[in-house]
Formats: sequence, structure tokens, C-alpha cells
Amino acid sequence: MAARILSGKEFAAKIKEAAGRRAAALCAAGVHPRLAVIIVGADPASEVYVRNKRKACEELGILSDHIALPAETTKAELLACIDALNADAGVHGILVQLPLPAQIAASEEEILRRIDPRKDVDGFHPVNVGQLAIGAPGLRPCTPAGCIRMLEYAGIPIEGARAVIIGRSNIVGKPMAHLLLERNATVTICHSRTQNLAAVAREADILVAAVGRPRFVTADMVKPGATVIDVGINRIAPKQLVGDVDFDAAAEVAGAITPVPGGVGLLTVAMLMENVVQAAQAQMEQGGVEG
Ligand code: GUN
Repeated sequence: MAARILSGKEFAAKIKEAAGRRAAALCAAGVHPRLAVIIVGADPASEVYVRNKRKACEELGILSDHIALPAETTKAELLACIDALNADAGVHGILVQLPLPAQIAASEEEILRRIDPRKDVDGFHPVNVGQLAIGAPGLRPCTPAGCIRMLEYAGIPIEGARAVIIGRSNIVGKPMAHLLLERNATVTICHSRTQNLAAVAREADILVAAVGRPRFVTADMVKPGATVIDVGINRIAPKQLVGDVDFDAAAEVAGAITPVPGGVGLLTVAMLMENVVQAAQAQMEQGGVEG
């Protein structure tokens, strides 16, 4: 059986189209949505991700500020930069690209907490994490939110489905579990200490791989007909990216599967655009925002 390939490009285009329409409506109302992206140092992968975010902003008529800080930036300097953006009513979204350089990596949580939760378009601030956990409105992390939107657009049922997530990160695994639960899936999170991982994974109607290990999910871990969402992006050679799923073999068993590249990564950027317009709209409605 050959699986349906869930093209990130196709679903990202739908998300961006809707975000672009909302951005235009905000502009017409006198508010020009604006994202500030802070990148510290010159991590090559981060530079590619940030470039893609800026390109998407340009495409949709969203303003973007690119703030490139030197690798040796101190925590105090980065916090001061965030404070200035928090105070700027013309900036609606703030994103600090991760990972941070070694001297400030240990302070990541403190740095992310400093972003005004209303401008936290990554959805990483504890306020937004808490809002998600209790099912209240807030900015949702882009990657898992993009995966959910893709399932909805693709007509893949979530309610009542057995969902298994491999990986328990704050960026993907945990928020993905909340988002699936919110939509009435039965959710299991697996991690490095999970016993009989393959057997648990094989129970999934929706299997999400977010472990950061190349081709970790093999065909024997996939239930025939399951939907497989591959969140991994692993560089195994200078010009070769692979996901966390052994794509060719898993595609023989799955009912639907996302490719890497060309899958979830594109959805992340698209959802970021949606979060920026959502943040701009909320700030406009609350007052104190400038276009
Ligand atoms: N680094 C890798 N993925 C992400 C993301 O979604 N947001 C931020 N800020 N940094 C990242």
C-alpha cells in the first residue's frame, strides 16, 4: 500500500493564504502586523530557519525586523533587547531563535519568560503554555499547531483517534499532546524510558515522531493505514536532510505520511505567520497598539 503524501507546501499555502487575508484586514484597520526576530550568533541551521520566516513575512505583507546579535551577547544585553521590543507598541510578535549560544543557553527559560506573553508568537512563555494546558485561548506553539491544522485540512479524524507522540519536548511533544487531547484524541507520549516502544507506536492511528534521531521510526512501528507525522529534521550529510521516520519503508505501511523536507517545517513557518496576525489583532482589540 502506498501512503498518501501529506505535502507541507499544500497545507502551508492554505494557512498562509488565510493569514495573509487577516494581515490585509488589519492593515486596512490601521495596524500593520510586525514580527521581530532575534538571532544570537551564526548557527547555520538557525540562519536558514530565520531567512524562511522573513521570506514568509514578506510574502504576506507582514513587517519583519531582523535583529542579529553577536555570538558573545550577554544575557543582560539580550534581556534589554527583549524589553525594548516589549515596550514598542509597533511590534506585535517577538521570536528569539533557538538554540542560544553556550554562554546564555542555560538562561533560555528566563529569556523566554521575558517576552510579553501577548507578543510570544512561539507560544513558549509559561503563560501561553498554561493557557494551552487548561484549554484557554492563547498563542500556541507553531509546529504542533501546524500539524493539527494539516490533519484538519486533510480530513484526517482526530476525535476518538489513538494518538502516540514519540518525544516529550516543550516545543513539540508536550504541546502536541495537549492540542490532540483538546480535540478528543486518546493520547500517549513516549520517550527514552518507554518500554515496548514499537508495540505502543503500533497502536497509533496518528503517530507523531519528534525525537531528533534520523530514521528512528521504522516500518514495524507503524500500524497499517496510520497517519505518520514526521517532525524531525536531521542533517545526515552536508546536503541530505532526513526526518525521524524511515520514510520509504513507513510509506509502504502508513495510510498518510509527511515527507522531510517538504513536510512539517513549512507548516511551522505558516503557523508563525498566523500567530503574528493573531497577536496583532489581540493587541489592537486590547488597545495600545500602533500600526
Ligand atoms: N529553533 C528550532 N525551532 C524553533 C522554533 O519553533 N522557534 C524558535 N524560536 N526557535 C526554534
